[in-house]
Amino acid sequence: MTKETDGFSTRAIHHGYDAKDHQGSLNPPVYMTSTFTFETAESGGAMFAGEQAGHFYSRISNPTLDQLEQRIANLEGAEAGLATASGMGAISSVFWTFVKAGDEVIIDKTLYGCTFAFLSHGLTKFDVTVKPVDMTDPKNVQEAITDRTKVVYFETPANPNNRLVDITAISEIAHKVGARVVVDNTYATPVLTRPIEHGADIVLHSATKYLGGHGDLIAGLVVGSAEDMMQVRLIGVKDMTGAVMAPLTAMLILRGLKTLELRVERHCQSARKIAEALQAHPAVLNVAYPGLDSFPQAELAQRQMANFGGMVPFEVKGGKAGGIAMMNRLKLIQRAVSLGDAESLIQHPASMTHSTYTPEERAEHGIAEGLVRLSVGLETADDIIDDLMKALSQHNAIAA
Ligand SMILES: Cc1ncc(COP(=O)(O)O)c(C=O)c1O
Repeated sequence: MTKETDGFSTRAIHHGYDAKDHQGSLNPPVYMTSTFTFETAESGGAMFAGEQAGHFYSRISNPTLDQLEQRIANLEGAEAGLATASGMGAISSVFWTFVKAGDEVIIDKTLYGCTFAFLSHGLTKFDVTVKPVDMTDPKNVQEAITDRTKVVYFETPANPNNRLVDITAISEIAHKVGARVVVDNTYATPVLTRPIEHGADIVLHSATKYLGGHGDLIAGLVVGSAEDMMQVRLIGVKDMTGAVMAPLTAMLILRGLKTLELRVERHCQSARKIAEALQAHPAVLNVAYPGLDSFPQAELAQRQMANFGGMVPFEVKGGKAGGIAMMNRLKLIQRAVSLGDAESLIQHPASMTHSTYTPEERAEHGIAEGLVRLSVGLETADDIIDDLMKALSQHNAIAA
């Protein structure tokens, strides 16, 4: 068991688990079971009525998921956690729990493509008003908010362009009308930003990314108050989406969490080096890395983030065609969506992760057609730089 004063990695490795309670097993056992037996029919009824604690069906709870939920809640500084089948399962379960027809939600203009599609094209079919605003200026939230606003939602840093949102400023505005602030912390991870410490109510993750960390699973996690998590569990996941995580997936994420701090430190160290090398290259038009002095929100990055993450979005000369040609010349960096893996991955948001936006929406939402998004992996940084520089040197020759 861990103490509050223990460091991040100590808690990521040990929190909520004591081998003594599990026959000395170093790792938590994986409970591969859909259902749980009742001692008596009465005790089963009491569990269903919420009068007796215990697991009874794995769509509602499971000891392996419970272990993971406690651990992520601890790392994010929240009361409780909830594991879901995917990041989209986490997002949709939260919204189906807290909004109904006639309500309003305010979202940032820059979001992961499927989140944007769910909110702008999905929720709006159910008479929920969705207001996209540019949250890099909190005044825009102040202008859009009304007493019908139930959720204020954003990513920081945002996918794909690393735009940051001031969590404290937005939370102050939202709380005046009693709206919940929900932050997608996939990019930062709790190693770099813990949104609850800045005033957010609910934090969620695509655990598919850095938390899992090895590109071998799809998963989501949510944390918040015990009361909110109980509601998301019993309404959003149990009844509305059924998006429950498999026990084996929970085991893989528990394993991923053990090295999260170590991995994120390396991702950040390499990403900064790579961002600097890209910025200095004549074929590169801009690099949006929060740790660079040239980053427009460098001051907020310093204030809100412990370090600046492993994502490096950049634009090369020649727009979309230039970006795609450069991607096709890479040898080590893999052309693939997703992020936060050991392997460096590169993708083109306008035709891939953000193709759910129309070209007009992308332009309005600050997602350039030529942008390429690099997820810096754990390979030796100089090898990643070498791959990029070789691809860019040919780019130069063509552009010239
Ligand atoms: C920031 C962010 N949030 C949510 C998601 C959705 O997560 P998943 O793919 O696990 O459903 C993604 C996926 O790329 C993402 O990048």
